[in-house]
Amino acid sequence: MKGNKAFAVMGSVAAMALALTACGGGSGGADGGADGKTMRLALNQTETHPSYIALNSFGERLSESTEGRWDIDVYANETLGAQQEAIQLVSNGTVEMAIVSGTQLENLNEDFRVFNLPQVFDDVEHQMQVVGDQEITGELYSSLEDQKITVLGGFTQGTRSVYNTEKPVNTPEDLAGMKVRVQESDVHMKMIELMGGSATPMAFGEVYTALQSGVLDGAENNEISYLTQKHNEVAEYFSKTNHLVGLDYLVINTDVLAEMSEEDRAAFDSEWDAAVTEHTELWLSETEKAIKELEAAGTKFNEVDTEAFRTALQPLIDEYVTTDSAKALYEATRAAAE
Ligand code: GCU
Repeated sequence: MKGNKAFAVMGSVAAMALALTACGGGSGGADGGADGKTMRLALNQTETHPSYIALNSFGERLSESTEGRWDIDVYANETLGAQQEAIQLVSNGTVEMAIVSGTQLENLNEDFRVFNLPQVFDDVEHQMQVVGDQEITGELYSSLEDQKITVLGGFTQGTRSVYNTEKPVNTPEDLAGMKVRVQESDVHMKMIELMGGSATPMAFGEVYTALQSGVLDGAENNEISYLTQKHNEVAEYFSKTNHLVGLDYLVINTDVLAEMSEEDRAAFDSEWDAAVTEHTELWLSETEKAIKELEAAGTKFNEVDTEAFRTALQPLIDEYVTTDSAKALYEATRAAAE
């Protein structure tokens, strides 16, 4: 089902499109070396994040296995725009590829909400099994092609927890009165409200300053992003709500994908599969490392009343899994956990 434009995008996309075109990119126009095509990939993470590392080696392997016909340039740190802009730039062909959170895609097709909900994925392993299963996700992934966006698959965001500048959070009552940043998503706004906080949607790159200046009291994310974005410097209480396993998607402009020969497309698909495997392995080891580094740097971790948050979040499923297609996705996902 199409249509929630509540977070529809702004004029900055047009400005970015112009700037990029002036730099030599064209419509559907992967530009590049003599005969090859270099696709620009928009990412909002730092160069030390597992997504950057896995995407960079994806590009290197793709270039090798297509003998230089296709390559990927990963632009980190929102240099091609925050995710809300990046998805529009992929749609209009100004940028070829992007990694965007599922929260962005729910604004284009409501069925993506299912994978943005708490209590849908049990853990990273379950999530990756579902996300890589064509039978479950095939229709969903091609559902945006009328907007020239093809979804190729997912990278885990791991489990997300709440952190704040004030105190350890144990129960939903502890979040009362706190302004907590969420991604630009109806599901996540409602989620934070049910968890007891007051939801403030904002782009990822703005969160550090907002926490520092007191515009926000808290946010929610995984340990790796909390560390790589340096949010630990400005919000020292990290409460392990583990309220959901988040999901990022690799999206590509549909016309660019269609330009690949059959052979190059096969190489692309198999290198992407390898990138997902590398990413998931890195994710697990880097999360362990991040926790140690954060502890050493003074983050105050605490366990929470998991059951209290679980109960508070229960109504979200009924509220957002309503259409037949969403129910089918939800049921297939839960069945894969059993
Ligand atoms: C994670 C996720 C990003 C997302 C970010 C956010 O870091 O990997 O894709 O943008 O959370 O909270 O905005």
